[in-house]
Amino acid sequence: MKFNTLATFFALTSGSLAAPAGEALEKRNPTGSFSLIAYGVASSYIKIFYSDGLAYAGDSSLWTYGSVTTDVTFTIGNTELPTTATTSGVTLDADTLFYIQPTADAITEVGFTGNGISTPSAATTESFLFYGTYLMWEESNGNLSDSFRLKETNVSGVYQMYWDQSNLYPSGYLLPTVKSLS
Ligand SMILES: *[C@@H]1O[C@H](CO)[C@@H](O)[C@H](O)[C@H]1NC(C)=O
Ligand SMILES: *[C@@H]1O[C@H](CO)[C@@H](O)[C@H](O)[C@H]1NC(C)=O
Repeated sequence: MKFNTLATFFALTSGSLAAPAGEALEKRNPTGSFSLIAYGVASSYIKIFYSDGLAYAGDSSLWTYGSVTTDVTFTIGNTELPTTATTSGVTLDADTLFYIQPTADAITEVGFTGNGISTPSAATTESFLFYGTYLMWEESNGNLSDSFRLKETNVSGVYQMYWDQSNLYPSGYLLPTVKSLS
């Protein structure tokens, strides 16, 4: 296993975002349901939420543009992240899965399958794992990467989520760390 990307990741997340002393970082999937949270772009963590098949972070109640918007929780099984709506009155398809679109030299939207919204052909729902509490994606060569990005929307405090496969770091995209929160 190569840790090039992981090394970059730890360099970026040193300081206040480093793992608490004594917390061993190892492959360890959470059990039961959990939220996904993003650190590093706001003064506190912000939660990942669902809106019309795409992933956002922030206070979902502020995002009024989607026709179906909901807070979500996740489980992990077979390297996939089944997703459940938690906002009252909203139900997602039972097979709703979190996806990224690992496409060389591209920054792409992160989203969710199902719910009558067509899934992009580059989407992958597999090969996710947690390293400590950090969400990572394992490439076929064994590299672990966490190339999540957040881009501010036109609503203050709400960000859309992206994946930057080649670590292009285009301007306007912030670098969060994405973690589980039980
Ligand atoms: C992924 O692994 C390959 C081959 O082991 C290595 O050359 C490359 O630098 C790694 N890529 C990243 C982004 O770490
Ligand atoms: C804000 O963004 C949403 C989603 O992209 C869009 O539908 C809406 O028209 C935008 N509103 C303004 C005021 O630009």
